[in-house]
Amino acid sequence: MLQNLPLIVANFKANKTWDELSQWLEKVGPQAKDFLGTIIVCPSMAYVSEASQKIKSAGWQIKVAAQDISRFEQGSYTGEVAASQIKDQVSYCLIGHSERRQNFGEDDNALAAKAQNAKSAGIEPIFCVQGQNTPIPRGVQIVAYEPVSAIGTGNPDSPENVQKVAQIIKSKGDFTVLYGGSVTRDNAKSFIKPGTIDGILIGSSSLDPQTFLKIVETI
Ligand code: PGA
Repeated sequence: MLQNLPLIVANFKANKTWDELSQWLEKVGPQAKDFLGTIIVCPSMAYVSEASQKIKSAGWQIKVAAQDISRFEQGSYTGEVAASQIKDQVSYCLIGHSERRQNFGEDDNALAAKAQNAKSAGIEPIFCVQGQNTPIPRGVQIVAYEPVSAIGTGNPDSPENVQKVAQIIKSKGDFTVLYGGSVTRDNAKSFIKPGTIDGILIGSSSLDPQTFLKIVETI
């Protein structure tokens, strides 16, 4: 999938009601057309479909990503959402976020199956790695480097180190590389390095639409 760089990904995790998400979209949506890169929003799975319809009918330049996907295709898997069930609503899917690895015991095999399922359904995985040695499944094109020590801690990695890690990741394949972990409106710009760091993945600083728009503006 070809997308305009940089990518700015807003990961809402298990935050926001539909009303709050809807308000966020109404604030960010109309401004998105002025951004030359790509804005990707990751709502809770509960609202993926409604968010996608709202964006489509308003004509906003925002892509929707799921925060996760089942490792299984459709079948007897209670509670799961298969890639083929949301392929019409999302363009991307986060896979391998450290919160999934830690809290839900997702291992390399499960994550490779998820990436494969996403690809087969035409959904582009944004595969999260915690370091330069984290295995990257076949077919993955977008990699997000997110060191655990930086996620939600207010303690981001240094732009210099992120650049080093991004170069190592890029030496292994033709990857688009993002950085995530305590990205704020003050430090966001320092992480974007055309040709090396192609975008950012933002958790808590993406929740407030004004703060998020400020980040987009600085980039
Ligand atoms: P943070 O989260 O921006 O709140 O550190 C980033 C992430 O979990 O992807």
